[in-house]
Amino acid sequence: MAKTANPTAFVIFGGGGDLAWRKLIPALYNLWLDKSLAEPFKIVALDMKETEQGVYLEHLREGVDRFSRQGKAQDDAWGKFTAHVEYLRADFSDATAFRKLNDDLAAFDAQAGKPATRVFYLATPPTVMQLIAQQLHDSGCFADPQRPRLVFEKPFGHDLDHYLGKEPVQNILAFRFANSVYEPLWNRRYIDSVQITVAEEEGVGTRGGYYDHAGALRDMVQNHLTQILCLIAMEPPVSFDADELRNKKVDVLRAVRRLKPEDVHTYVERGQYGPGLIHGEKVPGYRSETGVDDHSTTETFVALKLFVDNWRWQDVPFYLRTGKRMPMHASEVCIQFRPVPHQSFPSSAIGEMEPNRLLLCIQPQETIALRFQAKRPGSNMRLAAVETCFTYKEAFKMPEPEAYETLLLDVINGDASQFMRRDQVEEAWKIVMPILEYWDEQGHSDLPIYAAGTWGPEAAYVLTARDGRVWVEPRCGEGE
Ligand code: BG6
Repeated sequence: MAKTANPTAFVIFGGGGDLAWRKLIPALYNLWLDKSLAEPFKIVALDMKETEQGVYLEHLREGVDRFSRQGKAQDDAWGKFTAHVEYLRADFSDATAFRKLNDDLAAFDAQAGKPATRVFYLATPPTVMQLIAQQLHDSGCFADPQRPRLVFEKPFGHDLDHYLGKEPVQNILAFRFANSVYEPLWNRRYIDSVQITVAEEEGVGTRGGYYDHAGALRDMVQNHLTQILCLIAMEPPVSFDADELRNKKVDVLRAVRRLKPEDVHTYVERGQYGPGLIHGEKVPGYRSETGVDDHSTTETFVALKLFVDNWRWQDVPFYLRTGKRMPMHASEVCIQFRPVPHQSFPSSAIGEMEPNRLLLCIQPQETIALRFQAKRPGSNMRLAAVETCFTYKEAFKMPEPEAYETLLLDVINGDASQFMRRDQVEEAWKIVMPILEYWDEQGHSDLPIYAAGTWGPEAAYVLTARDGRVWVEPRCGEGE
């Protein structure tokens, strides 16, 4: 993994929040353990909450113990790591806090003997982002010859899409553009349809307060699913230069057909989880989760059909679905190929025939599988679907960095290729806005409730069945 070359001051706004706890600190800790962070470095966590430094560090340790890919923190290493961490209580509207931050950063530069790279990570609600950016500017924190990096977390517009940092997501690029076998088939002539499923077993957990104002379309489709769609549908880049990659992706987003209000009910289905069973255990419905309105009409599941109107993809449906409290945890892309042009086999041979499918499994097990037809052993000619499969872990037998580790290192090093450019963010919003507007106009009284532990409402099945297709169950999922 790349290393940072320069001393870095990493400032987290919302340092007491869920994202810092689950993702950012475990990722920074792992980068430090792997010696990927140049010394000296400093982490300043700012939050409105009044918390003692010691209590805060204990809380962070619990997060690392639970979420770090390298397991529980060891006393010695943890002690050394946390010597770099400082908690600052800050009212974001108070300029004094930002002046103090600026003084701390200047003192850190002096200690480092040169200007450190400054990363300001806004893991905060969007309502305070503008205020923080203004305060940073006014207090002089941006006066950094290394060019400060300002990272916005969603739902601002999701400048950071952590899906793009996932190894198997990046591997889609390697699969498509470092091999010549599939590219000639990668178009409307050979591909019948594409499915992208991002299913989560988990409910909203502790994030009800945020999620209830977001919903699945904003939380997942606008960013993660459309980004996966871009990687599948983009044209080959001329180089791996950040802007070239982003140009090719933005072309896809621009080509995605905008839904007209009258089309939304045919192309999009949504639902909200009710009580149900996960692994045989009863789980509450969405409306009973902490931070969620008792009468909430927020969607926790959405399925939609999109078209990419260009030469390569005209008329090929892209079915996308994502939901919480699904039967399994799995993110997978299924490329379904067209049937053979002429069926030479007798009908008795093709009873179990299924289309050729290429399955790109992103998580939890990173695999690439091809399902194709073979002859069943026996004196009669009977066909059956079989599979050949590549497993990332088996092939490489080396630990994989977490998406946030890759991305944070990229932020520090100023590599923007895995980050969404402003025009990408805007185009992705243009895809989902007509749907949100239509829902707002129509009201939410018909929002279907699906039982937790199922694949969403009935209507989601109709979306594919209407076209004579079926949703393909992810092969790499973990669950029931
Ligand atoms: C986040 C969403 O961006 O991605 C969450 O806000 C979701 O709702 C999460 O649970 C899924 O990410 P991962 O990496 O756990 O698949």
